[in-house]
Amino acid sequence: MDKGNEFVSTKEMLLNAQREGYAVPAFNIHNLETALAVVHAAEELKSPVILAATPSTFKFNGRPYIHAIVSSISKYAKVPLTLHLDHHESFDEIKESVDLGCRSVMIDASHYPFEENIRIVKKVVEYVHAVGGTVEAELGKIGGKEDDLSVADKDAMYTDPSAAKEFVERTGVDSLAVAIGTAHGLYKFEPKLDYDRLKEIRKVVDVPLVLHGASGVPDESIKKAIELGICKINIATELKIPFTKAIREYLILNQDENDPRKYFLPAKEAVKKVTKEKILLCKSNNRI
Ligand code: 13P
Repeated sequence: MDKGNEFVSTKEMLLNAQREGYAVPAFNIHNLETALAVVHAAEELKSPVILAATPSTFKFNGRPYIHAIVSSISKYAKVPLTLHLDHHESFDEIKESVDLGCRSVMIDASHYPFEENIRIVKKVVEYVHAVGGTVEAELGKIGGKEDDLSVADKDAMYTDPSAAKEFVERTGVDSLAVAIGTAHGLYKFEPKLDYDRLKEIRKVVDVPLVLHGASGVPDESIKKAIELGICKINIATELKIPFTKAIREYLILNQDENDPRKYFLPAKEAVKKVTKEKILLCKSNNRI
């Protein structure tokens, strides 16, 4: 049924999660197939969900088409969801998406010095808040590789709690991505999260905190991070791998197959399975 709804407010989703002690999972999607697989998993488990897309996903598909895909899914979905701009750096791209109806934005100016980061984030906050949208920003530098963005291990920088307090107060952001030991992409060693730092940040920062680079982080570490105040968990790599693996395996076994409806089927199932595991880990199931 077409319920004609708009995207649900990320701020509300995250504040509900903060109040009730769970995290809203944000899954990076790349096309209709991955978006639908994520939403079907969320529907089965009655979980709010965020569909995130990076600048290169928008570039690959064409910005208006990703908007059209997620907004038409949201009309029929049985769960609250939104389209979220992940790791956006360009004000013009953010503006284009907001003008197309997007209400959930991450402005990533974390690679700039503190004052410049504040200046860039404030400009985005002003534009997005004027239409009732939600803004996430990052302080510190999360390592690893996310699309075209790459931060070498030596350049990764943990979030300083007192700087985080000042940053949130001065920018007016709705949520803050913190660098506490995770990295984007695959880990060479098991990541060790800095829980003491997270506790310190939580003590002085009220807004919901966001954990990037959740793929490959042990379940127990994710659970503990949520207990200590993380309200949004970002997952990309752990969906990309099963999606691609399922297609590869299918085509190895069925070398003459050329029907995308055949080889996308196991790929969607594989994404759905991992999405469900992550929803249960975030404890966002049965929240609607
Ligand atoms: P992973 O690819 O490590 O899951 O990171 C996802 C992410 O943080 C997206 O912003």
